[in-house]
Parts: sequence; C-alpha cells; structure tokens
Amino acid sequence: MEVEGSPVMRVQSIAQAGKSEVPPQYIQPPSDRPNNNAGGKSGGGGDVPVIDLGGDSVREAVGRACRDWGAFQVTNHGVPIRLLDDMRKVGMSFFNECPMKDKLMYACSPDSAAAEGYGSKMLVDSDENHGVLDWRDYFDHHTLPLSRRNPSNWPHYPPNYRKLGFDRREVVSQFSDEMNVLAQKLLGIISESLGLPSSCLKDAVGEFYQNITVSYYPPCPQPDLTLGLQSHSDFGALTLLIQDQVSGLEVLKDSHWYPVQPLPEAIVVLVSDQTEQIITNGNYRSAVHRAVTNSKGARLSVATFHDPSKTRNISPASEIVCQSSPARYREVNYGDYMSRWYTKGPEGKRNVDSLLIDP
Ligand code: OGA
Ligand code: NI
Repeated sequence: MEVEGSPVMRVQSIAQAGKSEVPPQYIQPPSDRPNNNAGGKSGGGGDVPVIDLGGDSVREAVGRACRDWGAFQVTNHGVPIRLLDDMRKVGMSFFNECPMKDKLMYACSPDSAAAEGYGSKMLVDSDENHGVLDWRDYFDHHTLPLSRRNPSNWPHYPPNYRKLGFDRREVVSQFSDEMNVLAQKLLGIISESLGLPSSCLKDAVGEFYQNITVSYYPPCPQPDLTLGLQSHSDFGALTLLIQDQVSGLEVLKDSHWYPVQPLPEAIVVLVSDQTEQIITNGNYRSAVHRAVTNSKGARLSVATFHDPSKTRNISPASEIVCQSSPARYREVNYGDYMSRWYTKGPEGKRNVDSLLIDP
C-alpha cells in the first residue's frame, strides 16, 4: 500500500489533469528529445525485420537480424493471436477502468528493483540517478519460475483481469507459459544461427526468471519534449514484446531511431545484454530502444523479460571464445549487473559496454 504523501507521481493522473504542459521532471535534455534524431527516422537502413517463423531460411534471417539490429518481429510464432488480444485487453482494462485508489493498492516499492505491482518509475531511488522521469505507468508481474508466480498479487479488478482467457484459463499465466515456450524456441534458433548446438544459449542462461510488464503510456501534451521510456537496452536474456495499434517503440541502428511498426499478430523480439551480447561475445548485439509518446491517445505494450537467475555468472560461451576470437567481455554475476542497472540507470548501453575487456 502506498503511503500518503508519497513522492511517486502517477503519469496517468498527471495526464488526466488536462494541463497543456508536462511537469519539469519529465522534460528531456535537448539531446535526448525524440526529434533530435541524429539524422532523422529515414536513416536508409530499412525497417526492423519481420521474420515468418514458418518460412524458409529462418536461421539465416534471425542471424542477420541479431547482427544488424538486435531486434526483429516474428509471425507464425505459435502463440494464439486471441491470447495476445486478451493480454492487451486485460492490461488496458486495468489502466482504464480501475479507479486510481484501487490501483494504488498494488503500488510497488520504489526502493527495490523490478518489484511486482503498479509502478511509475523504472529506476530505484538512489543518489546516483536523478534523471528525467519517463512518461509511463506500468504493472509488473513475477511469473517464472512457478515459485515466484502468485496471481493473488495481480489485479482483482476489473473482475475479468484474471479470467478472460479464450479457453477460460487465467490470461496472465497462460500468456507467461506461451512466451516461455517461444523464448526457449528463439534461443535455440539464435544458437543455431551462430553454428552452435541449439541448447547452447539456453544452457548458459539456465532456468528462466520471467517478468511480464504491462506499460501504459498516457497521451502526453508535449510529446516533443518527453520520452515514454528512456533509451536503454534490456539487461537480461531475451525480451518478447507486444504492442497495441499505437506506435511508439523505436530501435536505434547506426545512430538513427527506427519505429517498430505495430503489427497486431506479431511479437517483437529484443536481444538483451546478458545472453546475446555477452554470451555471443559481441557477435550479436542487444537492441538499444526507447518509447516515444504522442498527444492523441494512450498506448499499451506488454513486455515479457526472460532473465538468468540472480546467482548465475555469465561469460562468453566457450564454444565461441577461442584463440582467434578471445573473450571481449568480463564474466559478471547477473544479480550484480541487474542491481547496478537499476541504481545507476541505463544511459543507453553503458552497463554492458563497461564489461568490455578492451573497449
Ligand atoms: C521495456 C521496453 C518498450 C515499449 O519495457 O523495457 O522497452 O514499447 N518497453 O513499451
Ligand atoms: Ni526495454
């Protein structure tokens, strides 16, 4: 329960107040504003690839996308489209229909990293980050391993939040299981695309720790001055993301920001720091991405993060590191890496770059 007088502001409440200007904490420095695009959106690099997992040459296409973009969208992924729709629907219902006082019953602590529940600040409060705030509220669910999954921590309102599944199974749990299967499959394809046994990345990551974050970006009166989510790369293994019909997600490539087109049946795959960048020894890159806002309508996304356990040490895969290709990254304890990320802030890719042996 949130204490009265808490300094955490809910972006949705600020947006609903109907002011024409955002509070100063949300104004990005000129270099980080959406329109200051280091050359504009049409950077000539094409679009974030869309890969049909039922098509030909999937391995090659995935390998190319991981090398060039660190991001791609997949279709024919095997996850029922109705489940994607149900997940978006329950997420939107919580933000749109649940009264603020009820939402606050799920408020997560701003002092601990990736705490489960309703939040508005990505980073933990610390002396080291006094950055600009993101124009976003979210609900984080802890879903895997099963010992972390406790649906009674998730919204009880609207009543269908946990019951709307097309086959009457509870939506978030079903979504979690399907995303887990897809993430394992993709790690297999990514391993094979490097000429490695399909289990290589999966074995390096170990048991998945999965979190599902529903992000709600309210309409913003000054989208040119703000960001829904600051530039970062995800720090875990693999992120799978679905968005609604409102665009906003952008990926950085060769100093240009490229929008990720909303495709209702597709799932966005974001290569993340630990596994791909570190384990593949920099052969593949984690995607630097951000979310921009707009003044017209709210946007919803659901990101499913697959991470190693906090006790796991991660280092470049021995199959990749050989004399002709020495390790470029230092071994890191995943729990340490994660807490540094949340305390210091992402600043693009600073955290993973700091592990480079010879920058
Ligand atoms: C994230 C993220 C982007 C989006 O949650 O890490 O990058 O479009 N989200 O919501
Ligand atoms: Ni992200």
